[in-house]
Amino acid sequence: MSFQSLFSTVVIATALIVGAFLLHMRRPAGELQTPNASFVRATGKCAECHLHETSAVVHEFEMSAHAAKNVNCLDCHRPVKGQESVDHRGFVIARHLSAANCRECHENEYRQFERSRHGAPAWAAVSGAKDFTAAQIAFSEKYHPGAVERAPNALAMMEGPAATNQGCYRCHEIGRPNADGSIGSCTACHARHASSVELARTPETCGQCHMGPDHSQLEIYHESKHGVLFNAQRDRFHLDADPKHLTTRDMPVPTCATCHMSGLEGLKVTHDTTERLSMFLFAPKSEKRAGYLQGVTNMQETCLKCHTRPNIEKFYAEAETVVASTNELVEQSNAIMKGLRDEKLLTPAPFDEPIEFLAFDLWHYGGRTAKHGAYMGGADFVQWHGFYELTSKLAEMKQKAAEIRAKAAETSR
Ligand code: HEC
Ligand code: HEC
Ligand code: HEC
Ligand code: HEC
Ligand code: HEC
Ligand code: HEC
Ligand code: HEC
Ligand code: HEC
Repeated sequence: MSFQSLFSTVVIATALIVGAFLLHMRRPAGELQTPNASFVRATGKCAECHLHETSAVVHEFEMSAHAAKNVNCLDCHRPVKGQESVDHRGFVIARHLSAANCRECHENEYRQFERSRHGAPAWAAVSGAKDFTAAQIAFSEKYHPGAVERAPNALAMMEGPAATNQGCYRCHEIGRPNADGSIGSCTACHARHASSVELARTPETCGQCHMGPDHSQLEIYHESKHGVLFNAQRDRFHLDADPKHLTTRDMPVPTCATCHMSGLEGLKVTHDTTERLSMFLFAPKSEKRAGYLQGVTNMQETCLKCHTRPNIEKFYAEAETVVASTNELVEQSNAIMKGLRDEKLLTPAPFDEPIEFLAFDLWHYGGRTAKHGAYMGGADFVQWHGFYELTSKLAEMKQKAAEIRAKAAETSR
């Protein structure tokens, strides 16, 4: 080979290598197999090694606001006060993470979350007070009297650990007390590594727990005008907008988060999902909450970013008539049960006779569904999954009660 052709081969080869390198550098960060220098600096050795071990974790993290702000793996994974630590490839990391790790940088959100019903009351709804310290009980009882200081749930006790561990707790562990003294989990809505507000604003995220016949919020939402519009137009919305500057241009249609939590157009973001509520809709007989007026005002402030006052006041007045009618039907059911108990025709145990299940279904499915449907725009849920169920269950209960009395009269003869 002549010197000239050797020279041009070297030049071409070098140009190809440099060209390929430059092209490689211009690819978006997420596409690179090996992390770039600033990414490695931001995340340290963890990401470098974990790209080969659990690459999805690293990719979720790369997309997050944390990666953009140089919050690194160890910032979350380092043990905080009260956490068990383990040696891991030259680092000390916590064996289990909890809300306490997020709290290090998000004290405000933690405090709002801690005083909400997503905190201790959610866990106590299944397990009662036994897993909490006296201080935790006292703290939560200040905001929600009777919500933590209570007995374990009778149905959970009867069904046993297989049902509670894989059933009840999967939803109610959002408020589980952690070994480090903190309460609950932030990742139920934000995920572990995406740490995303977009995810938290997606209806399905809340719908992981808020669905099914006893709290059909997700189903109601999807049949409401809000849900239909959201599903048709969501590609044009900015679900990832910064919560401090969220406008109706980013999201002209509300999701669960908009009404219950968001800082829409100057409103404050809240992690206390109780702040905007006025009624105890989940209760068998619904009463006004202690902060009734404030709850109405807070929620309506959100509606009023998009609607006029007369429409919203009419909507609330109509929803309250649904609560009143539901309460009346539940009282009739309660009177039937009380009559049978007073006559000693039922055992004292809560779930051992078919009529007790009927009475439970009546308020727990039909009653709740009618009320939730009325406040969130689900006509089908008010009527066919609501009042119709209430009415037909009541007819069944009356017949069952008559049968029980007839049988008792026969045996005493
Ligand atoms: C040299 C490679 C390497 C480095 C560096 C490394 N890890 Fe790991 N990590 C692994 C492997 C492999 C596993 C799988 C389980 C095991 O073998 O320990 C793992 C597991 C884990 C787990 C799961 C532990 C469990 O019990 O399920 C976490 C959390 C974790 N690593 C976080 C980190 C963090 C945070 C850093 C940086 C502070 C880091 N890792 C650094 C290789 C590494
Ligand atoms: C915003 C906080 C946060 C950051 C930043 C973070 N993690 Fe995690 N990571 C978590 C949480 C929370 C868990 C769940 C831990 C638990 O259940 O105890 C977790 C779990 C893990 C696991 C176990 C995953 C599994 O499913 O078994 C690995 C591995 C891991 N992280 C590695 C990393 C690496 C590597 C980085 C940096 C690229 C990182 N994490 C950054 C919060 C974080
Ligand atoms: C070392 C401090 C630190 C820790 C620990 C931490 N964060 Fe963050 N977080 C930040 C910073 C900084 C931002 C960016 C704030 C900003 O842009 O205003 C942020 C932003 C966020 C956001 C908003 C994201 C967005 O798109 O606007 C969420 C949600 C979030 N963090 C959740 C969590 C969760 C959940 C945990 C625990 C698993 C956690 N953070 C742990 C520092 C931290
Ligand atoms: C699919 C998720 C999910 C499962 C499974 C689940 N719950 Fe719930 N539970 C919820 C949600 C969401 C609410 C809130 C309903 C509302 O406010 O309208 C709730 C409300 C409650 C309430 C009323 C609120 C309170 O503090 O008194 C009780 C009691 C309760 N659940 C107990 C249980 C028990 C016991 C089990 C298992 C036998 C169970 N739940 C299974 C999601 C779930
Ligand atoms: C991991 C399960 C889970 C997820 C995810 C979840 N919730 Fe909940 N939520 C619950 C449980 C359980 C309760 C009942 C707590 C109680 O009263 O005992 C509840 C109660 C509520 C309440 C009633 C609070 C009160 O004072 O009665 C509202 C409102 C609420 N959630 C809204 C939301 C919204 C909005 C989202 C999504 C951004 C969401 N939830 C995501 C489990 C969940
Ligand atoms: C029930 C679901 C849910 C849970 C649980 C939850 N968040 Fe959020 N979080 C949201 C939603 C929804 C938003 C966005 C609010 C909005 O649209 O303006 C948000 C926003 C945030 C932001 C950005 C706030 C801002 O003003 O920029 C941070 C930080 C954050 N969450 C941290 C946490 C931490 C820490 C925890 C645990 C203590 C937590 N979140 C638990 C739903 C949740
Ligand atoms: C347009 C606004 C709006 C949207 C969207 C919305 N809600 Fe609601 N929600 C309300 C109103 C209003 C109430 C009744 C408030 C009261 O008690 O005054 C309510 C009540 C609730 C309650 C009942 C608390 C109790 O007392 O039992 C829960 C839980 C809840 N919503 C969760 C959700 C979830 C989950 C989604 C999404 C799938 C959602 N909401 C969507 C406005 C909304
Ligand atoms: C972010 C904006 C936004 C918020 C917040 C909001 N809505 Fe809406 N709402 C809409 C849009 C958009 C429509 C669809 C209007 C149309 O058909 O053009 C709608 C439709 C409705 C409808 C159906 C109207 C009809 O005639 O079909 C009702 C009822 C309603 N909203 C009630 C409420 C209530 C109550 C709240 C507060 C708890 C609320 N909305 C919060 C944007 C919003």
